[in-house]
Amino acid sequence: MEIIITPDPASASKEAARFLAALLRKKPHAVLGLATGGTPLPLYRELIRMHRQEGLDFSRCTTFNLDEYVGLGAEHPASYRRFMQEHLFASLNIPPDHIRIPDGLAADIPAHCAAYEQAIVEAGGIDAQILGIGGDGHIGFNEPTSSLGSRTRLKTLTVRTREDNARFFASPGEVPHHVITMGIGTILDARSLVLLAFGAAKAEAVAAMVEGPITAMVPASALQMHPVVKVLLDEPAASKLKRRGYYRDVFAHKPEWQRW
Ligand code: PGA
Repeated sequence: MEIIITPDPASASKEAARFLAALLRKKPHAVLGLATGGTPLPLYRELIRMHRQEGLDFSRCTTFNLDEYVGLGAEHPASYRRFMQEHLFASLNIPPDHIRIPDGLAADIPAHCAAYEQAIVEAGGIDAQILGIGGDGHIGFNEPTSSLGSRTRLKTLTVRTREDNARFFASPGEVPHHVITMGIGTILDARSLVLLAFGAAKAEAVAAMVEGPITAMVPASALQMHPVVKVLLDEPAASKLKRRGYYRDVFAHKPEWQRW
């Protein structure tokens, strides 16, 4: 894992955007894995700025989102389809038929999940997957004890995640119990992973992910098995890492040819 400790979320998001822009310039038909939540918002704002001011072109790329709430349709204000439309897709030039998000209203969820996996394969696999991390160490909606080999499927949210996400709903009771999420195995199949984490509330999960054992109790710890992972943190999110000094040293001395 490459751990990059930045002064603030804006700097981390610019690093992530630079990485994605370099990928898109090299491979215009790249497949991007996208995430929702508060964390990727500054990244999405930076991608929109690059599109508008620097002509970064998304017309040939394809996107797959990590997850969606079961029972919420595209028009529901808290659906991830709606979130993505408002915060990213409305401002970029991705063809609508290149955008894939699990369907929270799918009648046959196992069949829908299998088709989602197949669509990723048919698109050529995900080149770069954006990730946040839950305070409990989840990635996507793979809650603690999720199989490290899991594929896209139905999951039940923990009480903590439902509480964390209640801010996006009119009342806490409206947060669905069920979601469709890419599995940990699905995420590990992406060619590169970019995980963003900001704020002290993420510090413990970040430390467990980077420096703890690989365990289903911390789903993000599975990223230790992936060869190309960038973890972009602000100072508070990095505050519980024991080897902070080493990570800073690595970044400060990174050879020019490894930069993007
Ligand atoms: P957040 O969620 O970005 O809203 O903190 C992250 C996550 O739950 O994966």
